[in-house]
Amino acid sequence: MSGVKLESIFKCYGNLEVVHGIDLEVQEKEFVVLVGPSGCGKSTTLRMIAGLEEITDGTISIDGREVNRVAPKDRDVAMVFQNYALYPHLKVFENIAFGLRIRKESKEHIAKTVAEVSEILGLTPYLDRKPAELSGGQRQRVAMGRAIVRHPKVFLFDEPLSNLDAKLRTQMRAEIKRLHKRLGATSVYVTHDQVEAMTLADRIVVMNDGYIEQIGTPMELFTNPANTFVASFIGSPPMNQLPGVIDVTSDGKKATVNDVTFTLPDHINVENGQAVVIGMRPEHFSISPVDGASTIPVSLNLVEPLGSEALLHTSIGEHALVVKTETHGAIDHLSNVQHLYAPANLVSVFDAESGLALTGSHN
Ligand SMILES: Nc1ncnc2c1ncn2[C@@H]1O[C@H](COP(=O)(O)OP(=O)(O)OP(=O)(O)O)[C@@H](O)[C@H]1O
Ligand SMILES: [Mg+2]
Repeated sequence: MSGVKLESIFKCYGNLEVVHGIDLEVQEKEFVVLVGPSGCGKSTTLRMIAGLEEITDGTISIDGREVNRVAPKDRDVAMVFQNYALYPHLKVFENIAFGLRIRKESKEHIAKTVAEVSEILGLTPYLDRKPAELSGGQRQRVAMGRAIVRHPKVFLFDEPLSNLDAKLRTQMRAEIKRLHKRLGATSVYVTHDQVEAMTLADRIVVMNDGYIEQIGTPMELFTNPANTFVASFIGSPPMNQLPGVIDVTSDGKKATVNDVTFTLPDHINVENGQAVVIGMRPEHFSISPVDGASTIPVSLNLVEPLGSEALLHTSIGEHALVVKTETHGAIDHLSNVQHLYAPANLVSVFDAESGLALTGSHN
């Protein structure tokens, strides 16, 4: 069982506590992504798993064995960094083979393993080149090759794609996903890019300021964010959040934002007059052709065409509201939008003070 378990992990630099007692269990073969804003403690957490950073308190286990005091080289983990960390004077072949040479593997074994891994990564034509003669994406593949040949129990990635341009990043993202399917290796992957997190992860861990805000599958976090932080971090554009006041009426639960009424799901736990934040994903609105009893009147400020979709920048009073809609090739009609429809079962409700979700789960 090559899982990773973090129990009540704290990290202090001097007097400054930057990780505040986090718990996380990564299952064998699982791909877990740590995501969160800059400085939230992602790299620190990853480096503690690798053994490159001492933990201040708590327990880390790999494969069921406590590794708190085990040296990095004896933890059987391989780490891939943002800056590749290749040896510039060595050819690609030797860069990939490096860990095997250290282990004093046989010449035949090294040749066979490097050949296999280079084939998987599309590096076979480049084995005689030095890192300086490669593109960024090829260098990143060499760094991954070097990790793969070691057959580690756990792969650790710290923003491995952030030095690449947008197109190459998308391509490498797909390659990492394919590679994980093929190798099935337990992986912990750090990024601040929520799209990368959504596309790669079996489960996402959203971190903020040294705490874990929520752990769940990409769809769980998208559909049922535990709080306003997760709601605004996952999804692009993020979930709209509007301040509202609860009105429990004989025909259901509602919230008013300025003078506009949102119908809410029945199963939420709210009181009359409670201050809340209404959350609605840009893609969950539909455009209503007419002014109806349950429609939301908005002012349209800007239409941003993106090709197959368009973003409508609208507002309710002073509150901005972004809507994402399919264009079906035409956008002229969008400049007349005045009314939206927000299906009650897709509205999220958070307590205004704590930011915690008041909705039960959407089904
Ligand atoms: N060696 C250090 N000494 C003191 N403080 C540190 C040290 N390394 C990191 N920190 C602090 O610990 C906090 C977490 O840093 P960390 O590098 O883990 O963030 P991160 O989530 O990886 O951010 P980024 O997305 O910018 O890489 C930050 O506030 C950072 O300033
Ligand atoms: Mg970092």
